[in-house]
Amino acid sequence: MIKKGIILSGGKGTRMSPLTKAVNKQLLPIYDKPLIYYPLSILMLAKIKDILIVVNKGQLEQYKKVLPDGKNLGIKITYAEQDKPRGLPDAFLIGEHFIKKDNVALILGDNFFYGQYLTEKLKNSIKLKKGAKVFLHRVNKPERYGVAKVKKNKIISIIEKPKKFVSDLAITGLYFFDNKVVQYAKKLKPSQRGEIEITDLLNTYKKNKKLSVDFIGRGGAWLDTGSINDYYKTINFVSAIENRQGFKIACLEEISLLNKWITKKHILKAIKFYGKCEYSTYLKKLITK
Ligand code: DAU
Repeated sequence: MIKKGIILSGGKGTRMSPLTKAVNKQLLPIYDKPLIYYPLSILMLAKIKDILIVVNKGQLEQYKKVLPDGKNLGIKITYAEQDKPRGLPDAFLIGEHFIKKDNVALILGDNFFYGQYLTEKLKNSIKLKKGAKVFLHRVNKPERYGVAKVKKNKIISIIEKPKKFVSDLAITGLYFFDNKVVQYAKKLKPSQRGEIEITDLLNTYKKNKKLSVDFIGRGGAWLDTGSINDYYKTINFVSAIENRQGFKIACLEEISLLNKWITKKHILKAIKFYGKCEYSTYLKKLITK
């Protein structure tokens, strides 16, 4: 059972400069809440309560203003700093003392997931005992991602940002690992772009026949917030769904309440914390229904 999760929420966000000069990308708004709420909500939907957020050196205080220690959500949030973007598997080196002897999930701070069967899939994924598991999703521009070639539901090859077409199945930024991930991450060497690569880590599992796969499916959405255009497309998506349905995506307090991690008292406290705003009005509705 996976009970711990890491959100990798550093990076320079250079593709979105100058927006990201003073504020970290994951603290920018996706419609009505900061981007970091969305990956955090995914871990919470997976029933993961012990969460490490890795942030850029110097940006800890910004994050703590938005997400203090998790007590308000019935979860535990701890922080660690990354002094420079060394690559995604750095999460396991920085997080070694957090992970200890446990298995762990990793989600990238800029990834957005949404879909009807997602919660079921997440709950299944945390049952992982040995090996690693990734989620794939079909995309139009696979050259922007790590991709996987799949045969009979088995991954036969993995390539990071292939220049020539290999497959249109992108490896999304949500991963589930057994405890070996720390020892494997330690052995990685930087790629040509000077980073240690998540795809090299996944290849280690694949070589050992310990990599399993699931699909978000065409009824689900995996959106990107990497470029300005994709960032605004994600905002439009959230706005369209929320305005049409009246439900919020990634309302952290709502998830905690449904998970029975918090009570009405916590919601009242949260309303005080946020102040008079549309998000608070939504929270109020949750406890007056
Ligand atoms: O979004 C999924 C893709 O994410 C995967 O398909 C690729 O295999 C994987 O390499 C990664 O590709 P990106 O080029 O999109 O990764 P990026 O450098 O943009 O980093 C993703 C997030 O992780 C971003 O929010 C910043 C954060 N990050 C990144 C690095 C390299 C860190 O916090 N620290 C880091 O060292």
